[in-house]
Amino acid sequence: MDNVIEHRNFMKANYAGFDNFKTDQMKNLPEPALQKPLDNKIELIDLIPYEKINIQNDNLKANILNRRSRRVFTDEALTLEEFSFLLWATQGVKEIIQREGRDYASLRTVPSAGARHPFETYLVVHNVESLKPGLYRYLGIEHKLAWLGEIEDQQKKMTEAALGQQFAGKCSVVFIWAVIPYRSEWRYHVATHKSALIDAGHICQNLYLACEGIGAGTCAIAAYDQKMTDKLIRVDGVDEYCVYMSPVGKL
Ligand SMILES: Cc1cc2nc3c(=O)[nH]c(=O)nc-3n(C[C@H](O)[C@H](O)[C@H](O)COP(=O)(O)O)c2cc1C
Repeated sequence: MDNVIEHRNFMKANYAGFDNFKTDQMKNLPEPALQKPLDNKIELIDLIPYEKINIQNDNLKANILNRRSRRVFTDEALTLEEFSFLLWATQGVKEIIQREGRDYASLRTVPSAGARHPFETYLVVHNVESLKPGLYRYLGIEHKLAWLGEIEDQQKKMTEAALGQQFAGKCSVVFIWAVIPYRSEWRYHVATHKSALIDAGHICQNLYLACEGIGAGTCAIAAYDQKMTDKLIRVDGVDEYCVYMSPVGKL
């Protein structure tokens, strides 16, 4: 039971101790990068910009009504335009806020505590028009995809990482959100971890609603293998790790 109480407390607001310590922001330490830096040699892929994206159904009321978790998909590929829409809807950057001449925060299509946006979006692409299967990362600031490489036995490994949930291997693409805790800890210290998980919910909800607009579906997954998933998306599991994923496919 001890452990349960500890976990219950984790869901409570944790700002009371702020008088007792200084956050890194209070210590005037430099703000962390708004997006994980990239190796220069990595191939970047252009996406369709927001202004040029047409979606079948932008009736928000109907999309909220019809939203449900969908785990069975057709073999139809997502188009690059549809994929661009889903990426923009979940983490698209609308504005960068400057402070003292430096990038201080980003404003995106989803809310985030203190606009810290501590997530990176990894994509395990199985079947998207004009993209080779493999691992990608979304760059919200540039609205581009970074190609991170092939994954051997991809569908099998993705299914195993999702604890055997078959639809993770039988879909167009799996969105995997990894948190970089320090991006928020710099400002919110121990209050980060509760709000980061709330942020993740907003991201995935936008994915659900955006999918409804393009004849696609998704189903959130919290039941996944932490180590296998972190290995699959090539993150260290300490300073960056998966917290949530959601496979997407056409209906
Ligand atoms: C945080 C969270 C975690 C979830 N994890 C899983 C999961 O691992 N596997 C799964 O099949 N569905 C998962 N779901 C989907 C729920 O089962 C689903 O939302 C619920 O049954 C209600 O159905 P609806 O979304 O169609 O309204 C998850 C949903 C949420 C919000």
